Amino acid sequence: MNRLHQAAILSHKPMGRGYYRIVLKAPEMASSALPGQFVMVRVSDTLDPLLARPFGISSVLSKTSLEILYRVVGRGTALLAGRDRGQTLGLLGPLGKGFPLPDKKTTPVLVAGGSGFPPLHFLAQRVGSGAHLFLGSRDKESLPPTAIVKSFRDACAKVHIATEDGSAGTKGMTTDILNAFLTKMEKKSPLVLYACGPHAMLAAVGRIAAEHSIPCYVSMEERMACGLGACMGCSIPMKSGGYKRACKEGPVFDSRDIDWSERVSVKIQGSEFKVRR
Ligand SMILES: Cc1cc2nc3c(=O)[nH]c(=O)nc-3n(C[C@H](O)[C@H](O)[C@H](O)COP(=O)(O)OP(=O)(O)OC[C@H]3O[C@@H](n4cnc5c(N)ncnc54)[C@H](O)[C@@H]3O)c2cc1C
Ligand code: FES
Repeated sequence: MNRLHQAAILSHKPMGRGYYRIVLKAPEMASSALPGQFVMVRVSDTLDPLLARPFGISSVLSKTSLEILYRVVGRGTALLAGRDRGQTLGLLGPLGKGFPLPDKKTTPVLVAGGSGFPPLHFLAQRVGSGAHLFLGSRDKESLPPTAIVKSFRDACAKVHIATEDGSAGTKGMTTDILNAFLTKMEKKSPLVLYACGPHAMLAAVGRIAAEHSIPCYVSMEERMACGLGACMGCSIPMKSGGYKRACKEGPVFDSRDIDWSERVSVKIQGSEFKVRR
């Protein structure tokens, strides 16, 4: 399958809370993309910046178009925010392995922290209305844009919100309300967890899943240079020893396979890498 595409920007608008929604015409990708897969986006028409940026696919809107939701955090995303409808973007994708989909008897439980919600948005649309979504953030302003929360409410059985300062939903950590929910629900139906967000949250969700003996799949949004398995920059330590590449063997992994021991960031020639302490 050809994975290199020039995609026309069909729509590109700010959504509030620092996020943008971009709709791209990409027929080949739209027909084959799976929830949890990602695309490498060239944010400018020049070689500056040299590296494309990875983004999860947040929705397939039609046979020919797909959606990306992104937050401006640095130079690459700021350049992307300046691209207009009618222009084209160089894309590579769909890349990586997506979330394994649940069978009909299993209740999917989705957990999104920080800006980890886009791939779960696509998953929520695919798994049907039985899903439960847990959203967690520091405060109300750090939650996904209101329109996206509404879209999750339309797709899921229930959206559960926790904020650390109590400005929206339950005061506290997502993992607290998740734990209580799993204890109640596990007696009623088989469950499967899907999570995307900060490393510490994923580690905690993986721990809770193991305590409840529930399968758990996490999407690891490591920093990526090539997106193709060549540079090893996105390597993740595995419990069995050795490393797997988030871009090639992931970004979705069974949480039981990951070595969650604490990792620290080091900078080598200006690039950030995660290594074990
Ligand atoms: C598989 C995958 C899917 C992703 N999906 C989305 C998505 O759907 N929506 C979205 O908004 N973002 C997503 N990201 C993160 C996105 O790729 C980065 O925010 C983007 O590359 C930042 O580029 P920049 O040049 O603006 O920022 P930079 O200037 O490169 O960095 C700015 C700041 O952001 C931090 N940062 C950059 N990349 C990451 C990362 N991967 N993880 C954690 N912190 C990072 C840097 O450490 C720095 O503090 C995804 C990342 C991966 C690997
Ligand atoms: S980003 Fe290069 S190997 Fe994954």
